Amino acid sequence: MQASDTGAQAGILVTGASGYLGRELLAQARAAGRAATGTHLTNATADVSLDVCDRAAVDDLMARVRPGAVVHTAYLQGGDRMRRVNADGAAHVAAAAARHGARLIHLSTDFVFDGELARPYREDDPPRPVNEYGASKLDGERAVLEAHGGALVVRTSLIYAGAEPAPAERMVLDAVSGRADLAFFEDELRSPVARGDLAAALLELAELSQRGVLHLAGPEPVSRLEFARLIAARHGADPTRLRAGRSAAQAVRRPLDCVLDSSRAYRLLQTPVRGVRAVLTSHHNAAL
Ligand SMILES: NC(=O)c1ccc[n+]([C@@H]2O[C@H](COP(=O)([O-])OP(=O)(O)OC[C@H]3O[C@@H](n4cnc5c(N)ncnc54)[C@H](OP(=O)(O)O)[C@@H]3O)[C@@H](O)[C@H]2O)c1
Repeated sequence: MQASDTGAQAGILVTGASGYLGRELLAQARAAGRAATGTHLTNATADVSLDVCDRAAVDDLMARVRPGAVVHTAYLQGGDRMRRVNADGAAHVAAAAARHGARLIHLSTDFVFDGELARPYREDDPPRPVNEYGASKLDGERAVLEAHGGALVVRTSLIYAGAEPAPAERMVLDAVSGRADLAFFEDELRSPVARGDLAAALLELAELSQRGVLHLAGPEPVSRLEFARLIAARHGADPTRLRAGRSAAQAVRRPLDCVLDSSRAYRLLQTPVRGVRAVLTSHHNAAL
């Protein structure tokens, strides 16, 4: 694999650096001695404020920072602005990165699939989202690939195991402590990926010239219920206190089995990407 001339040498711009993944990307890039700039919107914890829906602001920032690589994580999972942020915003970032000669890694999701294939999804399986969130992310992928010929769209799955609990982990902690009455889907399969592993792999990808679509998630599929039980056990809580529920019974449809086949990414990368049990039994994970 060749290192891209731009991505490997110059600094990195992380959109959504006030978010769960973006925060880690910024920290790892800096720890590796790389110049890194992060953006936030409402949670002013990164370096600069940016609304990706504002095309001129995206272009201005790109001109000022002149990054060698951009990792675009900013997104919304719901609400009135979801489509604008996930599709139009992604298009603005991709067009500006292309105009300024920056490598682009764009984050997408396993929710672009309908979850009915009954085997792990490969990059060339046809996406068919079943809800508005998945549809907006698929529109974002298409806009990115059209606007930036060298872009890499990385589809991932549930992100967890950061220095602070991910939303999916917080739900488990709330449920076992009795703070919330929640059910965990026994019929929804995902491929959870540890935040540190994913961020390291993305920074490695920023230095390669791979383009198109790549699946990059954990190697160990689990149901949301199994995942919740493993998280509870890791925190010393009784996993049997967790209540099972069915995704298929929800009002908003969700893909049931969107396990990703990440074998192409694993062949490409030096960075190890661990399975859930290996992560949750690791003593090096401060948060867990
Ligand atoms: N988390 C998961 O389990 C998961 C699973 C599959 C795929 N992914 C993908 O991974 C990526 C990162 O997810 P995450 O969980 O780290 O996200 P997150 O914690 O929800 O953070 C989202 C980020 O987007 C920013 N943002 C929202 N609207 C914006 C706008 N209009 N302009 C600029 N920035 C805006 C937020 O800024 P403020 O907070 O400052 O407003 C925040 O920094 C996403 O692309 C997502 O599709 C995540």
